[in-house]
Amino acid sequence: MKIPHPLFHCASALAFATVICSSAVADDLPKLKEKKTYKVGFSQTESNNPWRLAETESVKSEAAKRGWQLVYTDAAGSAAKQVSDVNSMIAQQVDVILLAPREEKPLVPAVMAAKKAGIPVILLDRRVDPVAKPGRDYLTFIGSDFVEEGKRAADWLIKASNGKATIIELEGTTGSSPANDRKKGFDDEIKKNPDMKIVASQSGDFARDKGRQVAETLLQAHPDATVIYAHNDEMALGAIAALEAAGKKPGKDVIVVSIDGEKDGVQAIVDGKMGVSVECNPRLGTKAFEVIEAYAKGEKIPEWVKSDDHLFDDSNAKENLTTAY
Ligand code: AHR
Repeated sequence: MKIPHPLFHCASALAFATVICSSAVADDLPKLKEKKTYKVGFSQTESNNPWRLAETESVKSEAAKRGWQLVYTDAAGSAAKQVSDVNSMIAQQVDVILLAPREEKPLVPAVMAAKKAGIPVILLDRRVDPVAKPGRDYLTFIGSDFVEEGKRAADWLIKASNGKATIIELEGTTGSSPANDRKKGFDDEIKKNPDMKIVASQSGDFARDKGRQVAETLLQAHPDATVIYAHNDEMALGAIAALEAAGKKPGKDVIVVSIDGEKDGVQAIVDGKMGVSVECNPRLGTKAFEVIEAYAKGEKIPEWVKSDDHLFDDSNAKENLTTAY
């Protein structure tokens, strides 16, 4: 009897990931031959924050450890460039593509082009529009539950504010799956509390300086805000700078709630300026290469290899500083 690979055993809880079991794999999903080494394409969306750098490092170091060839591209924040990056990987005949899609809809044609060329695609950290399906158009999605991240941030805030808050929301990149899902998870939970109100919600593109500028404008329009919820730590750190520039004390006058768990974010919690950061683990490289290997061996791949994420607040921030990225 064949023993299932522990990574893909349904309902198994791993140190890093849990697995969502899939239904049948479609016949036209590109196959992968078993080989000693592979030529892997990794299409990164941008490199403008510590989260992206930690993800890239985890993919590069895993490829180096195994002696596999890596074709790496950085789309520099452009969905159009990312589509052409993937097309170039197809032309270079990579064996498999790891794709961290900038936005949900514009990257669907890239997934379909790889499928047509017979190259399996693994979505890393972000999803594409659900017209493209795991197990049919791409192999699997490896990453966090973004709706749950938003919900966990809201639940922490509901407790910390005793269910009373005037909230400014800084959204991530428009059209990206973490921005869509973190908004949904948070907003739906907040709506259940009659004394909590989101008075403004605008994109800061997951970037520190854009987050600072947007927070500055929204604080002028809503000087009575008691909370800033940012979809990532970089924008939260920008918001902290905006609060300080406005003569307010982050953590005291205004609670800052965030997602990611990067080193500067965890440090801001230690400093009392940020209330919470729900972790979103960027170190997906090892998992991605394990999936490639298992797929080539003919093992069944789940449709979602889900990260197990922690939450950092003043109860544990200090002890987690050294391992943060
Ligand atoms: O897709 C994950 C998100 O993308 C991270 O929260 C953010 O920091 C990054 O740019």
